[in-house]
Amino acid sequence: MKTVIAGALSALLLGGAVTAAYAQVSPEDQIEIRQAGFSYMAWNMGKIKAQVIDGSVEYNQQQVSAAANAIDAIANSGMGALFGPGTEKDIGDLHTRADPALFENMQDMAELAGNLGTAASNLAAKAEAGDQDEIRVAFGEVGKSCKSCHEKYRME
Ligand code: HEC
Repeated sequence: MKTVIAGALSALLLGGAVTAAYAQVSPEDQIEIRQAGFSYMAWNMGKIKAQVIDGSVEYNQQQVSAAANAIDAIANSGMGALFGPGTEKDIGDLHTRADPALFENMQDMAELAGNLGTAASNLAAKAEAGDQDEIRVAFGEVGKSCKSCHEKYRME
């Protein structure tokens, strides 16, 4: 029995150590990584838009699918962890556009982030299937979920 408890305890502690290491990302890094994640999603959104909305670039199913998969992965990567204490305002020259209200409404923020995750997974599935009409609809849904959070929690 003792060994079982000791085993469970050390598993807990180990888990704790992993969590602590994860939380140790400095506030500066959290801001930079989240901005990079958002920019990376935007870059991939732009590629899909060019091919299936604007038609300025010829449709290539593999490229659209790859872009959608990248968005899906980032949207579902747990970015909420990058809005930790100390990241609610500028740090030196590092500017954040996160609205202070965001940090008082983490539950709402998590919901909006969850909506994006769902929409992004749907877009990835549609992009893989390759029906452009369905991709357009799914793309619109992703765009809406980006916007709904920006309207509330991203400053000018
Ligand atoms: C749950 C809220 C939320 C969702 C959903 C969301 N964003 Fe954002 N976005 C933010 C916040 C907050 C910032 C400001 C981050 C900062 O400056 O620290 C931001 C910043 C950005 C930036 C500027 C990054 C930079 O370099 O400063 C871009 C571009 C962006 N988002 C694109 C997107 C796209 C594209 C989507 C959808 C695929 C999206 N966002 C979804 C909250 C969200």
